[in-house]
Amino acid sequence: MGKVYVFDHPLIQHKLTFIRDKSTGTKEFRELVDEISTLMAFEITRDLPLMEIEVETPVQVAKSNVLAGKKLGVVPILRAGIGMVDGILKLIPAAKVGHIGLYRDPETLQPVEYYLKLPSDVEERDFIVVDPMLATGGSAVEAVNSLKKRGATKIRFMCIIAAPEGVEALQQAHPDVDIYIAALDEKLNEKGYIIPGLGDAGDRLFGTK
Ligand code: PRP
Ligand code: URA
Repeated sequence: MGKVYVFDHPLIQHKLTFIRDKSTGTKEFRELVDEISTLMAFEITRDLPLMEIEVETPVQVAKSNVLAGKKLGVVPILRAGIGMVDGILKLIPAAKVGHIGLYRDPETLQPVEYYLKLPSDVEERDFIVVDPMLATGGSAVEAVNSLKKRGATKIRFMCIIAAPEGVEALQQAHPDVDIYIAALDEKLNEKGYIIPGLGDAGDRLFGTK
């Protein structure tokens, strides 16, 4: 079963409060999502492998660590996942970025794929699929299906707010995928929105409605 990690760092929790707040406008919402994504990227990269090299300090040669050059891929689920990409790339600028376009049919809540573009060396990369919201889990499950179909084998899922229903659905469908979240909320309402959540992440990020 995929593990669930809740990043309850005080800075993440603080910023999360303000993206929940309905009076937070688009500009500030976007900035906060960007900052939370950077902080989450810091946590999720804790286990990146290192290798030792020699570096010449002004005093003498020292042995010191650098990243071992792991190939990473970040895949935002469009639209709202886009809001998390720059914040992640601030810390791991060499990561390649794929895109998967999915929207939830408002009637059935089923995900519909409308776009897919991934790095060419899919088999060699460790992927982080990102989306601010994990609600029913339909979009996340479908995004991981799509990546696996193209040859990806190492996939993690990172979101800001998750509902227990979505976590369970993703764990059931993809027990090999670990899930990283900033907050595990209470439940879904009858329209598939996360309670208390933050409303529609895509609309709040891009100012649409
Ligand atoms: C939202 C959100 C997730 C999805 C989560 O996207 O960004 O992708 O819903 O819901 P689920 O877990 O029930 O699938 P939406 O479909 O509203 O599309 P958008 O990002 O284009 O607004
Ligand atoms: N998608 C959102 O943007 N918000 C929710 O609460 C659920 C799905």
